Amino acid sequence: MHHGLVDELPKGMSAIIATADLQGRETFESAGGKPLRLLGEVLPAILADEIIPNFGLANGRIGVLLAGDFYTVPALDKRGGSGDVTSVWQAFADEFDWIVGVAGNHDLFGDAATRPRFTTPVHFLDNDIVTIDELPIAGLSGIPGNPRRPWRRTEDDFVVALELLLSDSPAIVMMHDGPDVPDSGHRGSPRIRQVVEQAEPVLVVRGHSHWKEPLATLSNGTQVLNVDARVIILTGETS
Ligand SMILES: [Fe+2]
Repeated sequence: MHHGLVDELPKGMSAIIATADLQGRETFESAGGKPLRLLGEVLPAILADEIIPNFGLANGRIGVLLAGDFYTVPALDKRGGSGDVTSVWQAFADEFDWIVGVAGNHDLFGDAATRPRFTTPVHFLDNDIVTIDELPIAGLSGIPGNPRRPWRRTEDDFVVALELLLSDSPAIVMMHDGPDVPDSGHRGSPRIRQVVEQAEPVLVVRGHSHWKEPLATLSNGTQVLNVDARVIILTGETS
């Protein structure tokens, strides 16, 4: 869990929480004999009840950015299982004011890797943009790959979609995969980085590949926040 300071949040907001790839489950102790819930199902209440109150934030709305991959098989004995993450999105929606997110390559909604029908203030993005709290947020679900597999488009299709989204000048772009940063040895896609670097600077929020450092800056000033297996709480200056 990290605390990040931003220059400015939209008026009336006190924090933005960004996370991805919470591929784990609660402890046997916290489950109390019941089936282990997904980490993303139990985390929102812990954030709201135990973590955020310690920040001494002024009252304000709290938004959540979900960058995908919130499922882990119940026995925790296999990596890369796919399953329903609707309950994770719902658990964040139960605690916070708005949710904007994309699907990871292992996320199902119900039993399908198709666009879920959430209602406001929960916004699922796959090649579209939502403006919330005056922040235009673009999102592209999944990863480049074989389009016959779930949540994949060819790399060509992925970068074309991304170029179009960037041409609408979003403030934030959410992706599950995303740019690499070769100078720092951070894994990701070079082609996605090149497309992002040719556009106006934005904040990219991504997951999928673990980076030692969660924040990197690209040549055009774009900041990339990699929230793989992390929770990052962004606030303005706190007292
Ligand atoms: Fe992933």
